[in-house]
This record gives sequence, structure tokens and C-alpha cells, in this order.
Amino acid sequence: MAADTLFRRITDYASRPDPYPLYAELRESKVAPQDDGSYLVGTYHEITALLHDPRISSDRRHRSDPEEARLAAELAPSFIGLDDPEHDRLRRTTMRPFGPPHTPGRVDAMHGEIVRIADELVAGLRGRQRVDIVDDFAYPLPVTVICRLLGVPREDEPKFRGWSDAIVGGLDLNPDQDPTERTQAATEARRAMGVYLGGLAEGRRGKPSDDLLSAFVNDQDPAGGLNRIELMVTSVLLLVAGHETTVNLITNGMLTLLRRPDQLELLRREPALMPRAVEELLRFEPPVQMLPQRTPLVDVEVAGVTVPKGAPLILVLASGSRDPRRFRDPDRFDPRRTDNQHLGFGSGVHSCFGAPLARLEAQIALTALLRTLEGLRLVDDPPPYRRSPVLRGPRHLLVEHDGAGV
Ligand code: HEM
Repeated sequence: MAADTLFRRITDYASRPDPYPLYAELRESKVAPQDDGSYLVGTYHEITALLHDPRISSDRRHRSDPEEARLAAELAPSFIGLDDPEHDRLRRTTMRPFGPPHTPGRVDAMHGEIVRIADELVAGLRGRQRVDIVDDFAYPLPVTVICRLLGVPREDEPKFRGWSDAIVGGLDLNPDQDPTERTQAATEARRAMGVYLGGLAEGRRGKPSDDLLSAFVNDQDPAGGLNRIELMVTSVLLLVAGHETTVNLITNGMLTLLRRPDQLELLRREPALMPRAVEELLRFEPPVQMLPQRTPLVDVEVAGVTVPKGAPLILVLASGSRDPRRFRDPDRFDPRRTDNQHLGFGSGVHSCFGAPLARLEAQIALTALLRTLEGLRLVDDPPPYRRSPVLRGPRHLLVEHDGAGV
């Protein structure tokens, strides 16, 4: 089967429940050139090397396709789409109120609050035999947490949900869809969300509160802080990245455990295993399946294939994390796995900024669900999936349970 049809099969919605056999096919050739001029990479060592290679850009304005470069230039990229030194400056400035070295206790300090949010959501499941893990739990939890962290009113969620959907839709990658239309809708949504978040931040200027939007406009940063546009695009990045991924980690996690009642029981009995189980989920069913944004700045040779300057380079993280050349028995879900340097949060300078928060949320969420709901069973297997092949996870996960325990 030719590599071009392989990419279509991976992005085809019908493949969403189980793309892993296609990734195994992808790994047969370390680099798979596609008929549309892009290059797919699915092997662990090649992906890791490319993520650490300064000749590989995250900025789509370097694409040789003029239409793509024009669309990418329409709205300033956030730091996920920039290269060093600009990326480094903005990431450090954004990190100031969120983590080490300036605010090392920030994520830990949210522990009690996340437990409370999870407990409240779980309490809402009592007395209902059938629940949707996504709508009733896995979506509201990270949304509430990121709203709290940024200082976005929780009741504005209906306002930003549509924008967030359009932004994620911009990553759809279906070769049969018009990319211009898709990118334009995502750009409009980023702009609208940016104006909204920028407005919230401006309202806090001179009136400091304990959230990130307030810190961005009020804190003294020797590096100069964020200008108006940087503030908008960075806040959009945090709001979207802060919930669109974690929802999938919690839901993919429940689905994986419900399919393996012995592992579910093990984690119920030994909750101390949960941090390791979450790492295994990030390897086995990662919420971010691929990074579609990379572009070589010069011709780059990868495993004997020249990837030309300006070509779209797609790194399939989920395939790398199942590479048998790196992981023993990679298609087995093993919550006790110790050698587990997965690619779930990427690697290199762009590796996930929110990883400590995402880990904590998933550990608390899964522990609360397992502790509270007795006799859990899946209603639909496979469940209906969200459209995106990039941010992959079920759209709904219906379960039935016998009742709520503790
Ligand atoms: C399970 C949840 C999450 C997963 C699987 C995930 C995954 C990733 C991955 C794979 C990257 C690398 C992107 C690249 O190299 O181009 C990334 C970057 C990023 N993530 Fe996450 N993420 C999660 C949660 C979060 C949360 C909760 C936040 C915010 C609080 C966040 C903020 C970011 C940001 C800002 C970047 C860009 C970092 C940079 O470019 O330097 N993520 N994430």
C-alpha cells in the first residue's frame, strides 16, 4: 500500500477508534513522503532527534507553500509556533507566574482545589445509573481548573467553547478538506478569543488578583513582559491547550481501564500506582497523537531520506511511543511500566509547558472516579470519537455503574 493512501487512512475519521495498526505500517519506513508534499515520521528515535534539532522550525511561516505561509502569517503565532530566541523569551515570561524558578509552588498549591472540583463533579454522578464521562466529568474538570488558573469566569464557557472547537478544527488535517477554509475559521476564532481574553486582562490592570491574566498585566518582568498581541495569543494558547488535551487524557484513561477490568481493580486497590499509570496512558493512548506544524529550515536528511526545506513535516508522537525498537511489548498497557520516556508531552524546547498540571489533574480525576463509582461498565465500545486526528479522544463515553461508594 502506498504511503499517500496511508496518510489518508490515518486521518480518515473511520480510523479514529484504532489508528495503531496504521502507525505500525508507518514505522515500516522511517520517513514516509506523502503525495501532497508532506513527510510523516513515526519512529521513536527519529522523532526525538527531530524534536531536538534546531534546523526544524515550529513556525509555519517557513512553509514553502505560499498560501500556507500567508495564512500562518495572518495572525501572530503564539510561542508554540515560534522558534528560539523569541519562543524562549515568551515561554519564560509566561512561566514566571506558573512554575519554577519564580513560582515553584503554583501547581502544587492547586492540589486541594482540583480535588474539590473532582469531588463535586463525582457527587453529581450519584443517583444516576448512566453517565457520560466526557460531558459530566472529563470536560468540566480541566475547563474549571484552567479558568481558575487564568482568571476566566467559568460561566463564560459557552462563549469560548465554539472558538475552541474551531481552533482544534484547524488541526483537522483531512487531505480532502479545503485547508484554506479550515485555517481561516481557526484564525477568526483565535482572533475573537484573543480579544475576549485581552479585554479580561486589561480590566485587571492596576487591580492585581492571583490569576495569570492579572500577573501578565501587573507583574514586573525584567525581560519586558508581554505586549498587547503577545498577551492575547499567549492567553488563547493557554486556555485551549489547558483543556482540549486533558479532557482526552482522562477519557482515554477511563476507556483503557474499563476495557481491562483487572487493571482497573489493581488501581482501585493500589491508588499509589496512579502516577505511573497516568504516564503509561500518555504513552499508550496519548491525547496529542501528532505534531503537524514542523518545517525544516534547510534540507534535512532523516534515515536516508531528504526532507526538503519548507516541506510540512508531521511527527506522529503516538506512533513513536509504540515503537518496539524503544519500548518492550509496546502494545501492552502496563501501569507498572518503569522504562517509560514516552512522547506524550513532546520533547525538546517545546515540550509541554502544562505537563505538571495535566499530570496532577489526570491523577486526581481517575482516582476520584475509580474510588467513587462501583461496578463500572462501558455502554458503547468503541465510543464515538471527536473528529480531530491530532487531539484524539472520545466525544462521549457512556458508562453505567451500580452506585457511588465513598
Ligand atoms: C494531558 C494533557 C496535555 C498533553 C497531552 C499535552 C501535550 C503537549 C505536547 C505534545 C506539546 C508539544 C507541542 C510541540 O512540540 O509543538 C505541548 C506543548 C504545550 N502545552 Fe501541553 N499538553 C497537555 C496539557 C497542557 C496544559 C494543562 C497546558 C496549560 C496549562 C498546556 C500548555 C502547553 C503549552 C503552552 C505548550 C507549548 C510549549 C512550547 O511551545 O514551548 N498543555 N503540550
